[in-house]
Formats: sequence, structure tokens, C-alpha cells
Amino acid sequence: MLRKSFLAALAATALAVGTLPAAAQETVKIGIITPLTGPFASTGKQHETAARLYMQQHGTTVAGKKIELIIRDDAGRAENTARIASELIQNDKVSFIAGFGLTPLAMATAPIATNAKVPMIVMMAGTSIITERSPYIVRTSFTLGQSAVIIADWAAKNKVKKVVTLVTDYAPGHDAEKSFVDQFKSKGGEIVESIRVPIQNPDYAPFLQRVLDAKPDALYVFVPSGQGSILMKQYVERGLDKSGIRLIGTGDITDDDILNGFGDAAIGVITAHMYSTAHPSAMNKEYVAAFKKLNPSLRPNFASVGAYDGMHLIYEALKKTNGKTDGDALIAAMKGLKWESPRGPISIDPETRDIVQTIYIRKVEKKDGELYNVEFESFPDVKDPVKAAKK
Ligand code: DHB
Repeated sequence: MLRKSFLAALAATALAVGTLPAAAQETVKIGIITPLTGPFASTGKQHETAARLYMQQHGTTVAGKKIELIIRDDAGRAENTARIASELIQNDKVSFIAGFGLTPLAMATAPIATNAKVPMIVMMAGTSIITERSPYIVRTSFTLGQSAVIIADWAAKNKVKKVVTLVTDYAPGHDAEKSFVDQFKSKGGEIVESIRVPIQNPDYAPFLQRVLDAKPDALYVFVPSGQGSILMKQYVERGLDKSGIRLIGTGDITDDDILNGFGDAAIGVITAHMYSTAHPSAMNKEYVAAFKKLNPSLRPNFASVGAYDGMHLIYEALKKTNGKTDGDALIAAMKGLKWESPRGPISIDPETRDIVQTIYIRKVEKKDGELYNVEFESFPDVKDPVKAAKK
């Protein structure tokens, strides 16, 4: 009798103890590390609003697990990003790290994802090589090559013969420059000069004077999200808007978040990119309205869809693994996923874990007193051309 009740008590205790870790496992944590302060804070605000919006619309329970979002500010500094990633993994036991507003931040964190076998979702950084730095990286943003090749083709077909390129002097700028130059030359175009401007406290004025003197048909530009305002101000001050030199670029320059501040000088700027606030789908109209309701001071830009789709990727992967958070199983579940985003149809290339998406050519137009990137041509299923060329 005594022995029996002892065993029963033991079993009850085991059950109780057993339920403790099970209860702790009920929560799956996602850590987003993004610049919420410093010169790239707009990216962080876009990421935060979009991720919260996704959870508001899709609930906080997936495959029986409660989803908890932790958002941390790295101020755009790589040493912060890597340290915060380690803390989130070791102390908070997150099952995903996500965000990564700039290429150096993603590069510094890649080895941490590899060592911990934790999926790392790149929601902004756009240098081709990033996804090759860890088998645990999946990208929901874009690569610079995707847009650069499309705008190079457009230029070659539209009476642009001579181009000066101007890019920010770091990895995505180098990708944006090389993909454009190679493609434009292959179509018979001429590159007059290639200018690189420092990322810290950029002063474009002296470089813009060189562009005026060189008199190309077009100036092709890549600057990271947020830095277009300074460039456009100096562009107008130097009279480039009245020089007859066309302004073209990847869509980072006409970032929807800051485009309205550019003034009418931006009207007619042609860019190629994967997202516009003005994308005319029903899903995007709903997305823009809901986003503005959650954060009335922001217009959703291309960083926002990187985060919104990154959350979708995480939710769908968890559904496929039945809530299991094993890193290898989650990455396998993410490969080949396809869905409709506010930007249009997208998928994850199962071979490269990079995003495949439609790239649009857009022209800045004024509608109801606001400036928009209005899409007028589209190229579906664009893969990262830099990786494709390596095959
Ligand atoms: C990167 C950052 C940006 O803000 C952008 O528009 C494109 C690329 C990057 O650092 O990879």
C-alpha cells in the first residue's frame, strides 16, 4: 500500500516536472535586431511596425505555440548586432534571429547563427554574398543585383548611351555598381566614370559637380535607404535637375519613406525595385492602410515588406514543423515556400535560400499631392543574378 502510493506520488511528481519544460516550450521567441536609432533608424521603425502588424493580423499562436517578439536596437553598429544576437540566443533562448538593416550587421552575425544552428532571417541587407555566409540564413528582402540588372536593360533600351555611376562605398554599393556596369556594357552602353561615396556623413556635392562636368545621358545611383534625401537636396542645389542628365537607380534612392520630402525635382526619376507603396494589388492597398493605422507617421517602404514577409516565412515554417524549433528542420521547411506578398508573388529559392521576386520599373509621379513610385513594367521571378552567374 505504502509502496503503491509512493510510486503514485512519484509518477505524479514526474508528471508535474514533465509539464514544466513542456509549458516553457509553449512559447517560441523571435528576436528582431534592427537599427531603431542612428542614421538608419527608419529601417528599424519600418521593421518594427511591419512585424507587429503581421502579428496583429495573423495572431500570436502558431502550431499550438505562443509567439513572442523581442525587438532590440543595434543602432546600425555591427558589434552591437553580433552581441545582441548572442544574448538573444543564449539568454532569451530565441528560436529565430531576424532584422539586419545593413550588410555589415548581417555579415557580423552569420557565424553566430551557424554555431547556434538558429535560423537567421535577413529582412533588409542586400549584398549577394550574405546568404552564402551561413546555411541558416534565409533572405526576405532583395539583392541589389536584382534591381541593377533590370534598370541597366531599361537604360540601354531608352536612348541612354553614357552613364556615370555613383554608389555608396560598401558591399551593397559595389554589387549595385558591378551588376549595372556589366549589364549596361553588355548592351552596348558606355560607363563614363564610376564614383563611390563614403557611407559615413556623405557629402555628394563635389561628386555631383563631376557628374555635371562629365555630361552623361544619365546618372545611376545607389544609396542605402534613408540617404536619398541628402543626395536629392544637393542634386537640386547643384542644378542637376535642370541639366538634362536623367537620374536613374535602384529603388533605394526613391525610398517611399522619404520620397515625399524630395519635392517636385524627383518627378520623373526612373528606378527598378521590388516594392512600391503604390503597388496596385488589393493586398497592398490593405497593407498600406493597416500599416498607416498602426504607425501614422510612416509610409511603408521596401524595408517594411522584408519584415512582414520575414514574419510570414517564420509562421509558415513553424506550421510545417508542427511547432518544432529545430534549426535544420525550420530551414528545410522554408526552402521553396511561395506566397503572395504586398509587393507581389515571391518565393524562397531552395538552392540558395535567397528571395525570388518580381522587379518593377517605376517612375516618380505626383498623385493627390504625394509623390509615388508608379510601376509601369514588371519582370517576374527574378533571382539574384550574382549567384546565377557563379553557377
Ligand atoms: C543595404 C541597406 C539599405 O538601406 C539598402 O537600401 C540596401 C542595402 C545593405 O546594407 O545591404
